[in-house]
Amino acid sequence: MPTTGLDRPIRIGLIGAGAIMRLSHAPTLARSPDAELVGVFDRDRTRAQELAGTYGAKTYSELSTLLGADIDAVIVATPNRNHPEAVIAAAEAGRHVLCEKPLAIDVQSARKMVAACAAANVVLQVGFNQRFWAQVQIAKRLIEAGFIGHIHGFRSIYSERWSAYPAATRYRYDLEQSGGATIIDLTIHRIDLARHLMGEVSGVFADLAHSALAEKVDDNVWLLTHFASGARGSLAGNRYSPDIGDGTSLYGTEGTLHIATETINPFHAVPLAVYTEKSAKDLPDVLREAHYPDAWWKSFEGGWITLKPPRRNPYDAQLAEFCSAIRESRLPAITGTDGLKAQEVVQAAYLSVRDGGWVGLPLPDDAPFVLPEYS
Ligand SMILES: NC(=O)c1ccc[n+]([C@@H]2O[C@H](COP(=O)([O-])OP(=O)(O)OC[C@H]3O[C@@H](n4cnc5c(N)ncnc54)[C@H](O)[C@@H]3O)[C@@H](O)[C@H]2O)c1
Repeated sequence: MPTTGLDRPIRIGLIGAGAIMRLSHAPTLARSPDAELVGVFDRDRTRAQELAGTYGAKTYSELSTLLGADIDAVIVATPNRNHPEAVIAAAEAGRHVLCEKPLAIDVQSARKMVAACAAANVVLQVGFNQRFWAQVQIAKRLIEAGFIGHIHGFRSIYSERWSAYPAATRYRYDLEQSGGATIIDLTIHRIDLARHLMGEVSGVFADLAHSALAEKVDDNVWLLTHFASGARGSLAGNRYSPDIGDGTSLYGTEGTLHIATETINPFHAVPLAVYTEKSAKDLPDVLREAHYPDAWWKSFEGGWITLKPPRRNPYDAQLAEFCSAIRESRLPAITGTDGLKAQEVVQAAYLSVRDGGWVGLPLPDDAPFVLPEYS
């Protein structure tokens, strides 16, 4: 795997100059001691110039000239349909890749992307940044330590009204460009979180509906899941309700975890809540570290523990992990295979809509990609 010297920032080019680059990736690079924003390519040259100008980077009018420039890596955040061409070209040019989620629209393209990066021996990390939320990381430690026992149930909701996010284009609502307006954009974050916290998904039953938007797209998403562990799950998302709905719950034989994420709401009033029947002497340090004052523990004999870890921007941790993986010539925490597995769940959901039943995972190599038609 090509490595960079450890003594200089990793030089990064942006492919795409839309909302997520402007809101998150570019400012994250600007404050990072690890990396440096060198160049920007976007099919819309004006947008590329604006972003590059703000950060003192160079604008490139062709993907190939950006990839031929003096860069170590790229971040890809174009419409989903265009991820494969950018990722494969970057890999062939020997550039490491942080690709926004979803990896692609379909499993077959995602496989080609993973294979191209493996063949070129470059890092491929996927932008499932929610794994870097502090509350998710604490939850993961508690789950791995068996703190809530055997987990039999998982539930997650992620809704975001179409107008809540200042996208530069409307590609999300053109299914040919996006591959899905809600399931592949919002729910896929929770598919990844489910895999991260629960293990592999072994089956999916999907009810995907168009309910409110002007465009005939999936704006009302419901998935039932089976996990390889035997646990059951439900994942939901929508694009029509005016609030940003956000919460994930895990139900174990010895406790419950409620994870709220970026948007705390009355239903999930703290970033992380843990229900346990254990008393103070049996609690792990991670709970004490994230909940204070100490005096509270003296009388604790079970019940809800609420945790408010300091908010860290997940994009900082995501970029730091990408840079470390490059410097250390290792797989990143969130690999191309993670992107591929999440993609498989979406593709299986589409087959479930087509056939009206459960679809088992992993999918066979020749499983078709069948975009649902919404009325
Ligand atoms: N991790 C997250 O939470 C998160 C959040 C937002 C967006 N994203 C992902 O980032 C990607 C972009 O989303 P966005 O909200 O920034 O979209 P956007 O509509 O704001 O911007 C898309 C940009 O891509 C450009 N573009 C289109 N085709 C291109 C091509 N072939 N080559 C180069 N540039 C091209 C457009 O001109 C536009 O500037 C999507 O894959 C999305 O899923 C991830």
